[in-house]
Amino acid sequence: MQCKKLIVMIKKFESYSLLLHNTFGIEAKAKTFVEFSSEDELCSFIGSGLETPSLVIGGGSNLLFVNDFDGIVLHSVINGMDIVAEDENDILLRVGSGVNWDELVAYTVANGWYGLENLSLIPGEVGASAVQNVGAYGVEAGDLIEKVEAISLSDASKRCFTHDECRFAYRYSIFKAEEKGRNVITYVTYRLKKNAAFKLGYGNLSERVEQLGGATLENVRRAVCEIREAKLPNPAEIGSAGSFFMNPVVAAPVAASLKEAYPDMPQYPLADGNVKLSAGWMIDQCGWKNTPHEHVGVYRYQALVVVNRGGAKGEDVIAFASAVVESVKEKFGVTLNMEVNVIG
Ligand code: EPU
Repeated sequence: MQCKKLIVMIKKFESYSLLLHNTFGIEAKAKTFVEFSSEDELCSFIGSGLETPSLVIGGGSNLLFVNDFDGIVLHSVINGMDIVAEDENDILLRVGSGVNWDELVAYTVANGWYGLENLSLIPGEVGASAVQNVGAYGVEAGDLIEKVEAISLSDASKRCFTHDECRFAYRYSIFKAEEKGRNVITYVTYRLKKNAAFKLGYGNLSERVEQLGGATLENVRRAVCEIREAKLPNPAEIGSAGSFFMNPVVAAPVAASLKEAYPDMPQYPLADGNVKLSAGWMIDQCGWKNTPHEHVGVYRYQALVVVNRGGAKGEDVIAFASAVVESVKEKFGVTLNMEVNVIG
C-alpha cells in the first residue's frame, strides 16, 4: 500500500550536529538531518526512494559515531499512545516510534497495565527498542510486541511485521538482519496485561520490591529505577551507550570448564542448552575499572558500560573497546561482540 501525498511539514537541516542525538556525547555531523512527525510526511520525503545513504536513529542511545555521516539521518518524532483493542485480559497499545521509551513505561504503569515495568528507565525511543529488542531484569521488549509498522525506504510502501516475523531473540530482531537499513519504523503495538503477571526473578529485584512494600506496578518500577540508577550512568551526566558489549553465549562444556577455573563466574543457562556469560563480570575481572585512560573508560559500578570521560572521539572508544576485547579473549578465551552500533 502506498502513502497518500500531502503538504510536507518535515524538518530538514544540512550539516547538522549529532551531538545531542547520541548519548555517548560524540561530536559528529550529518550531511542532512530529517525529522518527521507522521507516516505521510515520511512517505512524501522518501518518494520513490532515497538516492543517498540513510541512517535511521532513535534516541541515539546505542550508537557510536566514528565519522561524520555523509548521507541522510532520519529521526522519527511520531507521537501517540492509543488503545487499538482490548478485552478483559489484554490491552493492545499502538505507540508512535518517536515516543520516549521511559515515558511509555511510565504511562503503562500509571494506567495499571502490566508488562513493561521491568524495562523502566531504559534510554531511547520506541522504534529503536523494537530493532534492538531491549531487555532488562528478565523481560525483553519483544516479549510484549504484537506488531511493528514501518515504511520502506526503497519505495515508501507501508509494511507490517507480526511478532513472529520480527524474530526477536537476545538483543536481536529481523531489523538487525535481512531487514537492516530497509525500513523506518513508525508504530509499535504492544500487548499489555490487565492482570498482575510480575517477573521478579532477576538478581535482587524481588528483595528490593519486598522492601518497598510488595509487588505492585509502582513498586516494581521504583525498584528497577533504583537498581539502574545505582549501576548505570545517567546519560545526561556521563556519556555512554549503556551496555557496550553483548553478553556472550557459549556451549555448555565451555561454560563448565570456565566455571571450574573461575567458580565465582556468573552464568545463565539458556533454554537451548547454551550458557550466557556475564561480559561485565569478565571485563571487571580483567581490571578495567581501574585503568587511567584520559578520555574513555568503563563505568566504575558496571564494567559493561564504556563511558566518555570527556572529549572522547569515536576512534578513541573503538581503540579502548578493542583492548578490552583482547584482554577478555586472553584471560577467558571468550570473544565479546559489540552491542553498540558503530557508524562510519
Ligand atoms: N558484574 C560484575 N562487575 C561488573 C558488572 C557486572 O561483577 O562491573 C556482575 C554482576 O555482579 C552480576 C553479573 O555480572 O553478577 C551481571 O550483571 P548485571 O546484572 O548488571 O547485568 P549484565 O548482564 O551486565 C544485562 C544487560 C543490561 C541490563 C541488565 C539487567 C546486556 C548486554 N546488558 O547486563 O542492559 O540492564 O542485564 O537485566 O544484556 C543495556 O543493554 O544497555 C543494559 C544496561
